Amino acid sequence: METFGFLVHPMDINDVTKKYKIANKINPKVVASVLKRRRPFVISEITGIKSITGKEAMGWFIIVPFLPHQFYDLDQDYVIEKIAKACEIGRKEGAGIIGLGAFTAIPGDGGRVVDNLSKVPITTGNTYTVATAIEGAVEAASRMEIDISAATLAVVGATGSIGSAATQVLADRVGEVVLIGRDQKKLTNLSEQVKAKNKHVKTSTSVSSIRSADIIITVTGAANTVIDPDDVKPGAVICDVARPRDVAELVVKRRKDVLVIDGGIVKVPGQVDIHALTGLPKGTALACMAETMMLALEGKYESYSIGKDISLDKVNETLAFAKKHGFKLAGLRSFEKKLSDAYINKVRENAGIKMAAIR
Ligand SMILES: NC(=O)c1ccc[n+]([C@@H]2O[C@H](COP(=O)([O-])OP(=O)(O)OC[C@H]3O[C@@H](n4cnc5c(N)ncnc54)[C@H](OP(=O)(O)O)[C@@H]3O)[C@@H](O)[C@H]2O)c1
Repeated sequence: METFGFLVHPMDINDVTKKYKIANKINPKVVASVLKRRRPFVISEITGIKSITGKEAMGWFIIVPFLPHQFYDLDQDYVIEKIAKACEIGRKEGAGIIGLGAFTAIPGDGGRVVDNLSKVPITTGNTYTVATAIEGAVEAASRMEIDISAATLAVVGATGSIGSAATQVLADRVGEVVLIGRDQKKLTNLSEQVKAKNKHVKTSTSVSSIRSADIIITVTGAANTVIDPDDVKPGAVICDVARPRDVAELVVKRRKDVLVIDGGIVKVPGQVDIHALTGLPKGTALACMAETMMLALEGKYESYSIGKDISLDKVNETLAFAKKHGFKLAGLRSFEKKLSDAYINKVRENAGIKMAAIR
């Protein structure tokens, strides 16, 4: 049996109150303050992962008790120390590799400092996340009859680890690229690299620049949503890879002419159920979790996706691991629900009516 650990954290205060009812009656600031003092702990043992090769894996999900904003606001040494402690808990349980989930993968240069401190190999899971984000965005665009070769692709959080790799892979497949981030200097550096693949590159520090895009991949490290209903043009596809999410739920409620999909939801081979822990449907996992599971199934107990620069060769390697072990994209989903053909057709129809009306 191959083994792994995976670090998770509450996405918001509701995740805490779901587990500790008493927290409902307490000021959220006090809850956050109590949380930050808590030690990491094992929340669940995950079994039932069975590769189509016949190999099996099991793992431990370990909570790092911080809310998203605390990963940025608290002293970075303290944050990294707690993440490293969680890795050590996983090692003692018997994990051969540890995946750093959501914001646990961001501090210390994208897991590099944690990797130096940890006695067990680690991975951020970002490599397979890039592969699945692209797969999902391309599939959704095709369902919306978007001609990818002529389309404008906007990447929000383009200067980040996942954002920059996704941009580099897709740049020469689309008509135009809009890079959106907070730091103009980083955006200019990235656009110089992207120009080698596509001359039509723009940069922006304003999320409203997604208004010109047909395909949007959004993958910021923001603690709150960054995309609102009025930001998007009719007929656009948004692939939201961020956890916590970048797209406000209001976008799906109000914009019936825009297709919003969850990035990086993967069908896991075997009989795995992490719904109670993550809200994800039975048999599925986030791509970063899936990458950790695949590395365990491969017996590849070495640090894999570390730091901010993702190897594009490794993106293809993770796709090969996925094929070998039977992991695949879990169809098109939005806010955890599977999107039916009828729903997608309706979105396309709504977008067509609106686009015709604008003309
Ligand atoms: N779905 C999955 O399976 C999966 C897997 C792994 C990670 N993720 C999620 O993907 C996201 C990004 O991860 P990453 O490792 O690529 O992070 P990263 O390397 O830190 O990149 C984050 C990007 O977001 C930008 N950003 C940060 N805070 C922002 C804010 N408040 N408003 C606008 N932009 C902001 C950063 O800009 P600066 O350069 O200016 O800081 C950077 O461009 C996270 O939400 C993570 O949880 C999802």
